[in-house]
Amino acid sequence: MAIRFVLNGSPVEVEDAPAHVTLLQWLRSSGFHGAKEGCAEGECGACAVALWTSAPGESGSHYEPVNSCLLPLAALAGREVVTVEGVAPAPSELHPVQEAMVALGGSQCGYCTPGFVVSLFCEYYRAGREGFDPESISGNLCRCTGYRPIADAARGMPSPSPKDPRLVQLGRRAADPEPCRDTKARYLRPASLPEAWEMWEASPEARLIAGGTDLLVYANQRFERWPKLLSVEALQELQELSLTNEELVLGAAVPLSRIEHFLRRERAALGALEQLLPLFSSRLIRNRATLGGNLATASPIGDSAPALLALDARVELSSRAGSRMLPLRELFLGYRRAALAPGELIRAVRVPRPFPDFQRFYKVSKRLLDDISTVAAAFTLSLDEAGKVTRFGVGLGGIAATPLAAPALSELALGKEWNEHTLAALLQAASGLGTPQTDFRGSAPYRRAMLGQLLRKFYYESASRSEAAE
Ligand SMILES: Cc1cc2nc3c(=O)[nH]c(=O)nc-3n(C[C@H](O)[C@H](O)[C@H](O)COP(=O)(O)OP(=O)(O)OC[C@H]3O[C@@H](n4cnc5c(N)ncnc54)[C@H](O)[C@@H]3O)c2cc1C
Ligand code: FES
Ligand code: FES
Repeated sequence: MAIRFVLNGSPVEVEDAPAHVTLLQWLRSSGFHGAKEGCAEGECGACAVALWTSAPGESGSHYEPVNSCLLPLAALAGREVVTVEGVAPAPSELHPVQEAMVALGGSQCGYCTPGFVVSLFCEYYRAGREGFDPESISGNLCRCTGYRPIADAARGMPSPSPKDPRLVQLGRRAADPEPCRDTKARYLRPASLPEAWEMWEASPEARLIAGGTDLLVYANQRFERWPKLLSVEALQELQELSLTNEELVLGAAVPLSRIEHFLRRERAALGALEQLLPLFSSRLIRNRATLGGNLATASPIGDSAPALLALDARVELSSRAGSRMLPLRELFLGYRRAALAPGELIRAVRVPRPFPDFQRFYKVSKRLLDDISTVAAAFTLSLDEAGKVTRFGVGLGGIAATPLAAPALSELALGKEWNEHTLAALLQAASGLGTPQTDFRGSAPYRRAMLGQLLRKFYYESASRSEAAE
């Protein structure tokens, strides 16, 4: 079946491609050499393209920068994408973003430049943009110009002219990802769960894909191949985002950037998640990555698990037989092994209310941004009026084969005063937790030491806050 999409304003039709073929591979083999392959694993942003996107409930639309090296070509069906070749209004003109990059010296060898231009192009049209937001280029690496001239160019971008045709386009909704229902195709994208069960039953060999930010790395770097991919992107049932008096529901297929906006808008008082999300890779990755994909990998260094474990989250799993609820800690069976039965997927993450009063997420990594955790820890705490612990939640990453909750620590703290004696008891108990390994990110003793340090840090931050509140 042909894949149809719009590229830089022109319709394109491509014959069905193998499931692992990325937009970047197709672009470069089709004469669009602007987007570059730097790393082929989502780290450098040289391959960035702009997807014309509408979030559910958004009256208009926006441009979303994504890494084309991690985007299956077939995922573009029905969508519109702008590459660096398409940002300028005419072949003989520059876009204001390109003009700013030229005027302020934002490019030397130029390898990274198309990616920066696309990220800044999306930022240029962001509604409510004021000044320079470093987040807008957090997924783009430059190895020779240095970031100051690029930041200068970002600061130097004017506001779009009201006559800019792209602003008119952004006033209306973008097409949603189109369902791909041809069972002979190698990329399936059902629009509802009943449709998904049918397709999965007919093609049980199909591998689930959400944002592809984990899966496509395996295709690019380890040459993994799948006969078929079954995308959860268009499943409305996995797109829920809601906050009620009972719980917060985060649909498994909602991109992390959308969760960030939701939490900010709802002022949900979920410090652990709000601290975690900006540290989760980069904007380019978070525009595609999902919680379902993060948890299903059961990676010991996945970042969402520690925060969600400390918040006592549950996961809702669905299959043709129905849904079941599982405490998150029971999802992780072993190294990269999740308790998902064949034909079962993660539908949503549910965080019960009331939320704990004090929450922290800490990530120890080689770089602050755009890096994988060496150790991650989340702690949550509630105290009663007498200053005794009514709730102490713990979630840890990087110190065992799976993410860990630590119920023994939670129980040990319950009913105790939140003071240095309790801290000492917790440190003692934590010193035997997990089975940290030595690898290129850190040694086992380093990881264990970090766990103690993060617990201390949490104690002093929470104690100083409760003192300030008295
Ligand atoms: C450059 C880079 C930086 C990264 N940085 C971080 C980081 O800072 N922290 C971090 O934790 N991770 C990081 N990751 C890993 C990855 O981005 C995350 O794990 C992400 O959340 C995966 O989500 P996804 O939707 O892209 O999953 P996909 O790649 O689509 O899928 C991952 C796995 O989950 C399965 N799956 C997907 N959705 C479901 C579902 N609903 N139910 C059941 N199974 C499902 C797929 O079959 C696949 O096995 C990074 C990755 C890259 C490339
Ligand atoms: S090539 Fe580096 S992020 Fe895509
Ligand atoms: S200009 Fe050379 S890598 Fe950025």
